[in-house]
Amino acid sequence: GEPVYILAVETSCDETSVAIVRDGQEILSNVVSSQVATHERFGGVVPEVASRKHVETITCIIEEAIEQSGVSPAALSAVAVTQGPGLVGSLLVGMVAAKTLALALELPLIGVHHIAGHIYANQLVHELAYPFVALVVSGGHTELVYVESEGVFRIIGQTRDDAAGEAYDKVARALKLPYPGGPHIDRLAHETGEGVTLPRAWLEPDSYDFSFSGLKSAVLAALNTAAMKGQPLAPEAVAKGFQDSVIDVLVEKALRAVKAYGAKQLLLAGGVAANKGLRAALEARCAQAGVPLLAPPLSLCTDNAAMIAAAAFLKYRRGQFAPLELKAEPLLKL
Ligand code: KG4
Ligand code: ZN
Repeated sequence: GEPVYILAVETSCDETSVAIVRDGQEILSNVVSSQVATHERFGGVVPEVASRKHVETITCIIEEAIEQSGVSPAALSAVAVTQGPGLVGSLLVGMVAAKTLALALELPLIGVHHIAGHIYANQLVHELAYPFVALVVSGGHTELVYVESEGVFRIIGQTRDDAAGEAYDKVARALKLPYPGGPHIDRLAHETGEGVTLPRAWLEPDSYDFSFSGLKSAVLAALNTAAMKGQPLAPEAVAKGFQDSVIDVLVEKALRAVKAYGAKQLLLAGGVAANKGLRAALEARCAQAGVPLLAPPLSLCTDNAAMIAAAAFLKYRRGQFAPLELKAEPLLKL
């Protein structure tokens, strides 16, 4: 049939992104404007600053995405937008932009859950086989999701406190590393073989939930104690010990879920999926267990609008359109 061109808008956190994707798979453009430089000096995302930045850039990013794609606005099939979860002020900017486009171009509107986007980023590069389990790890999320069939999600585990990426960023801050700290810790951890001993939060034996705030506190306590003794810890050893603890728990629970749910694949998504140690550990364990491990390339792991278009395409095929009254939902459930 006719090609389906979806224009998608993603502004849930600190990336302003617009993409145009053909038939849910071919990325014609995926423009991402990161605000990292703006938030760096605050050591984290400042919501008011983020929404103002989105307002400043969104129009330009839409124009750029359309131009790069070579698709005429008249040929578009639908407009998709991240409905939530995320920062309410940031979500609102994308929502208003998407609705305006849908209204002006007389196109259907599709609301997408941000996590569904992260999961279906994999669809841009892989063949998916249901049922699968997805491990979504980012600055805002740590979730184990059982996906029984297309669009049918069940969260089987999630963090009870800090997200994995958030823990990385906080530990990095304690080590006086720049924001976002994940990549720096990852690099340092590979510079030593000996990590400091830190706890693992397994929680109840049958739980798929996570907790990282105790680990973060343990890191801070270890740093303080060592400093008081006049024997400061080597940053590499702290990074290695912290990373080993995070990876152990993520890998163990993800593989237990794959087995318990009879998943055909394990999908990895979110910014922390860029972690070299995590990828290596998952690859080894999945190979051992005979489970295919799928992960998108780095550029599709972190927040971007192509992943929103990929998830929206599935809704498009099912005719799951949203009214123009669609509301941004900062706490939207999957
Ligand atoms: O998906 P993402 O771009 O934004 C959110 O939705 O949060 O994820 C950003 C997070 C940050 O916390 C960053 O420190 C973390 O991903 N991150 C990493 C690595 N690269 C990015 N964490 C660990 N190791 C990495 N290599
Ligand atoms: Zn995200």
